[in-house]
Amino acid sequence: MKILVTGGTGYVGSHTTVLLIQEGYEVVILDNLCNSKVEVLDGIEKITGVRPEFYNLDLLNYEDVNKIFDKHVIEGVVHFANLKAVGESVRMPLLYYNNNITGTINLLQIMKKNNVKNIIFSSSATVYGINNTSPLVEAMPLCATNPYGTTKIIIENILQDLYASDDAWSVVSLRYFNPIGAHESAILGENPNGAPSNLLPYIALVATEKLDHLSVFGGDYDTADGTGVRDYVHIMDLARGHIKALEYVLANRGVEAINLGTGNGTSVLEVIAAFEKASGKKVEYKICPRREGDVATSFADVAKAKKILGWEATKDINDMCMDLWKFVTKADTAENYY
Ligand code: NAD
Ligand code: UFG
Repeated sequence: MKILVTGGTGYVGSHTTVLLIQEGYEVVILDNLCNSKVEVLDGIEKITGVRPEFYNLDLLNYEDVNKIFDKHVIEGVVHFANLKAVGESVRMPLLYYNNNITGTINLLQIMKKNNVKNIIFSSSATVYGINNTSPLVEAMPLCATNPYGTTKIIIENILQDLYASDDAWSVVSLRYFNPIGAHESAILGENPNGAPSNLLPYIALVATEKLDHLSVFGGDYDTADGTGVRDYVHIMDLARGHIKALEYVLANRGVEAINLGTGNGTSVLEVIAAFEKASGKKVEYKICPRREGDVATSFADVAKAKKILGWEATKDINDMCMDLWKFVTKADTAENYY
């Protein structure tokens, strides 16, 4: 069965592609490489023995994307291809609205035209905004605090309206919490283009002495140690969540939003301690002012994922830090990392 993976050379897309191939799906990847590297395909091939067919295309390019559907009989789409940097979205809202929303509308129009109505969409815990209290439950009211988050809410709404207009659609929006870590082989991991803004890639750069310290954003939150608490989820657990969601989407019709997290909160200082243990390195840090737009605590209620998908996370923060450390210190990654 052929699955189109948009954004398949990206961080979540590449790890999910590995599992899709290992589960026997045939994967076609579409990615414009604006935030990933074509060498990721070598990593996928090295792990699975299969090189997925790859199209270096922008979702904004309707005609060329449509040609993929002429060429392949696609049964379902896993749609990762969005821009994702919160700060950048504040500075460049039109870029984000155009890329994420226009790109998704193009994709959905092409899917509809070709009668492909099974889709998994990468949403985010950012849709819960700042006023809900953790554990965050799917039915809570949504609210965005930046253009990136707004694009996620708008796309979730578009998908709901699409199903309301035609009940042949089968849609799952997966709301990821904080994906971290790497494939256990250390062949694939997160290797962003440019300076990272997320906690774990930043810690890795401090531990490898490429940066001299981590700024901890806020030491006075209402949490056990005063630092921000998040629900970190291992990238391979997250990838497995997509396999479960795809099985669900292919077997059902409807529209669902489902959290993917562990259900546990970990503070920044706890992450630093876990990383120091995994790496044997000291992570220098300074407590700094809070980062604008951050919430104190965000972790998932995971009951729906368990009930509907039969999925739950299996790996803890120590596993996540160990796999990340293995990835960043592997010779060829270390050379090209950051
Ligand atoms: P990523 O940037 O590594 O992967 C996204 C991929 O999409 C990149 O390879 C990029 O080149 C591609 N892309 C972007 N716009 C495109 C376009 N118009 N046409 C073709 N390709 C395009 O990001 P990721 O971390 O793998 O995230 C995947 C998805 O999950 C995104 O939708 C993101 O918003 C969402 N998400 C990520 C996180 C996270 O922390 N990583 C958290 C919540 C949600
Ligand atoms: N943090 C620091 N220093 C840093 C970076 C982060 O102290 O240099 C702290 C943050 O304040 C926060 C925690 O580490 O408490 C995690 O921050 P990240 O930037 O790694 O992740 P966020 O929870 O802020 O955001 C992530 C994604 C968003 C997504 C959100 C919810 O970056 O795109 O999870 O899914 F919307």
